[in-house]
Amino acid sequence: DLPSHVKIVEVGPRDGLQNEKAMVPTATKVELIHRLNDAGLSVIEATAFVSPKWVPQMADAPDVMAQITRKPGVTYPVLAPNMKGLEAAVAAGATEVAVFGAASESFSQKNINCSIAESLDRFRPVADAARDAGLAVRGYVSCVLGCPYEGDIAPEKVAEVAKALYDMGCYEISLGDTIGTGTPAKAQAMITAVARHVPTEKLAAHFHDTYGQALANLLAVLQMGVTVIDSSVAGLGGCPYAKGASGNVATEDVVYMLNGLGIKTGIDLEKLAETGSWICDQIAKSSASKVNLALAAK
Ligand code: HMG
Ligand code: MG
Repeated sequence: DLPSHVKIVEVGPRDGLQNEKAMVPTATKVELIHRLNDAGLSVIEATAFVSPKWVPQMADAPDVMAQITRKPGVTYPVLAPNMKGLEAAVAAGATEVAVFGAASESFSQKNINCSIAESLDRFRPVADAARDAGLAVRGYVSCVLGCPYEGDIAPEKVAEVAKALYDMGCYEISLGDTIGTGTPAKAQAMITAVARHVPTEKLAAHFHDTYGQALANLLAVLQMGVTVIDSSVAGLGGCPYAKGASGNVATEDVVYMLNGLGIKTGIDLEKLAETGSWICDQIAKSSASKVNLALAAK
């Protein structure tokens, strides 16, 4: 059975841009968020309050938050890996933060410079303080279908980290196929393992499209009751700590597929595709969205 409605979490301004080598002007990031607003996105991950030494592209996080015009009913989550990030996010007026762990020890070390256990100990006070300040907290698990350093990852390991994040109060757990190596049966086995500990309706699928499997994997997990999808306009992105990994599944491609299945998203595909073309022009990249290319050629 497929859901009648899917929530799309647009991660383009954060996951999509974080790996860009040349600094994208703050004004471009702000305009991207405004255009995504206009296209009907209701959750737009806006930026990341991480160390600028680790991810220089996100150094303007406070400026992005200060310059966006927030639309009622739309949320603008931001990444916050530690208390310093949370404090900066709160000061910038964020209403939702995301902590981000991994199901792989090596990736955890490379991405956030600590073990999985240390990261969970670090996230707990962040989650507590965020909730005390009235912010919602989302939790990411990376490498759920494979790790660039360790290869296969056991579904039980993913479940263990997902449960820890859920138990500390994350309202939604986003499961990241960081390097896009997953295939549909593998994605289903992973969801089965996680759903033993976290209700399926609290899970989000965050699939990168490196091997062209993301739409197939999404359909496979939609059939299991997942109703939240993370995606990036024009399929932009990649993780600085996962060499060769390409962008998230393109939001345009997801919306096109969902439209065809009669699943509602509230998103205007035409405006979204125009936004995809626009941001690709701004950063001199070609779109990774097949739907975007097809619509642009019409
Ligand atoms: P560390 O070096 O161990 O941290 O990094 P530290 O506490 O020792 O601090 C070192 C320096 O960073 C200090 O500055 C701190 O003040 C500063 P110094 O004294 O040297 O001048 N610092 C900060 N500055 C700004 N904001 C902060 C912050 N924290 C410390 N929040 C740390 C640990 C977690 C900070 C670092 O490893 C980091 O920032 N990592 C982020 C990496 C990242 O953003 N990766 C991409 C996002 S994750 C992803 O893409 C996957 C995802 O999409 C899901 C998927 O696809 O799987 C979510
Ligand atoms: Mg990602």
